[in-house]
Amino acid sequence: MWDLHTTTDMKLLLLVCLLTWPGITSAEETGFVTVAEGDDAVLPCSLSSKENIQQMIFDWKKDEEKQKQVFYYVKGKYYNYGLTGQDQQFIGRVSHFQDELKFGNASIKIRNTELADNGSYTCIFPEKQNSHITLYVVPELKVRPNISGAVLKPWVTILGVTEDGTQLECEVKRASPKPDVIWQDHAGNTIPSQKPQMTDRGGSYDIILLTTVTKTDNYTCTATQKEIKHRVSAKIYVPVNVSDSSPPWITGGFLCTILLLVLAQCCVCISN
Ligand SMILES: *[C@@H]1O[C@H](CO)[C@@H](O)[C@H](O)[C@H]1NC(C)=O
Ligand SMILES: *[C@@H]1O[C@H](CO)[C@@H](O)[C@H](O)[C@H]1NC(C)=O
Ligand SMILES: *[C@@H]1O[C@H](CO)[C@@H](O)[C@H](O)[C@H]1NC(C)=O
Ligand SMILES: *[C@@H]1O[C@H](CO)[C@@H](O)[C@H](O)[C@H]1NC(C)=O
Repeated sequence: MWDLHTTTDMKLLLLVCLLTWPGITSAEETGFVTVAEGDDAVLPCSLSSKENIQQMIFDWKKDEEKQKQVFYYVKGKYYNYGLTGQDQQFIGRVSHFQDELKFGNASIKIRNTELADNGSYTCIFPEKQNSHITLYVVPELKVRPNISGAVLKPWVTILGVTEDGTQLECEVKRASPKPDVIWQDHAGNTIPSQKPQMTDRGGSYDIILLTTVTKTDNYTCTATQKEIKHRVSAKIYVPVNVSDSSPPWITGGFLCTILLLVLAQCCVCISN
């Protein structure tokens, strides 16, 4: 038993030595970068010797198994500048820092990050050095039209006027997973609504949400499916007719007018 442990320890020691031995391909730098989806990400990588790499080769790949071609630099040529083979996902979005090459800096920038960019990247200087960087792309809630089950723009309409105000309807169809649906005013305040009327069609939902408003405003109905980071909304302008919603005012006005007429009549009488 004791012997076995020693052997294991020796092996570990050997491995550590190999990994830290200069010149041996190793993971010298590990780290992570976090960006919000849609922002640009700079993935850092530098040759430890800091020597000029303008006439060298470096290569960026994504995912250990898939080895997607992110960026490839060969002595002044690179993807879409004398070299081809870049993965479709990265075409037109990845650049290096030309002025930094002389300091051994092989960092790249990925513009307008997508969820698919999330994952692990390797920066490779062949036969010199490898380093690993994990890129975390934090999803935004936004319209994602090409995901199955993502709801289309809600259908919004004015149902009619009751003594409580103007009734609005918002309808979303064939939503999977089940969305949250809300009504908001122009300032983004969620306004009270009735309990959503929900129809479950075997995991796919139709939802109707009614609310009643008493002020002229632009109202927005928003459906959010947070599991798929999908959010879509529809706006409707709702003119609330003051005379409809507050009859006492018009009655008051009417009375005033009569009173004024009577007074005017009196004045005429007196002056005569
Ligand atoms: C490499 O260049 C990038 C972009 O200019 C910069 O952000 C990074 O700090 C540089 N790395 C080093 C080690 O100088
Ligand atoms: C992003 O990538 C990291 C590293 O590969 C992984 O652990 C994580 O689950 C990924 N996140 C998403 C949302 O896919
Ligand atoms: C969604 O799919 C359509 C065709 O099905 C395509 O034209 C469009 O570019 C796609 N949009 C996105 C954001 O992927
Ligand atoms: C509603 O939105 C329109 C433009 O979409 C704007 O011109 C109008 O002033 C808004 N009305 C209110 C009451 O916010």
